[in-house]
Amino acid sequence: KTVFLIHGPNLNLLGKREPTIYGSDTLDDVAARCAALAKPAKLDLKSMQSNHEGQIIDWIHEARDAAAAIIINPGAFTHTSVAIYDALQAYEGLVFEVHISNVHKREAFRHHSYVSARAEGVIAGFGVEGYELALRRVISLLG
Ligand code: DQA
Repeated sequence: KTVFLIHGPNLNLLGKREPTIYGSDTLDDVAARCAALAKPAKLDLKSMQSNHEGQIIDWIHEARDAAAAIIINPGAFTHTSVAIYDALQAYEGLVFEVHISNVHKREAFRHHSYVSARAEGVIAGFGVEGYELALRRVISLLG
C-alpha cells in the first residue's frame, strides 16, 4: 500500500524558516524518518512538497487511484483553501492533517482549518515528530 505525504507552501524552507517555531530539521530529515517507519510496515511512502495550490490538488486527485492514505500539512492553505478541502472530499482513503506548530496558540487566522472537517485525525504542536505520529496511526489502521 502507498501513503502520500504532502507538504504545502513554504515547507521547502523547513529547517531554515523561523526555526524557533518550526525547528531545525529539514523536509529531507522528515522524509527519511518517515520512510524508516514505513519500510518495516511494508508501506510505500511518497513525500512531496509544493508551493502551488493546484499542484497539491492534482496530487490529491492522483491519490484517488494510487494511495490508501494521505498525510498532509497544507501550510497556509489550511486556512484558506476550499479547493483543497473539495479535493480531499473526492478522495476515499484515510486523511491525516499535521501542523508542526500549535496553530491554536498562534494568530487567530490560524485557528480555523478547512481540512480538519475531512481528516480522520489532526496533530498540531508536536514539531516534526507529528508526521511520525500520524504515520504510526496510518500503519495501525492499514495494517
Ligand atoms: C503550519 C501552520 C500554518 O499556519 C502555517 O501557515 C504553515 C505551517 C505548521 O506546520 O505549523 O505554513 O501548517
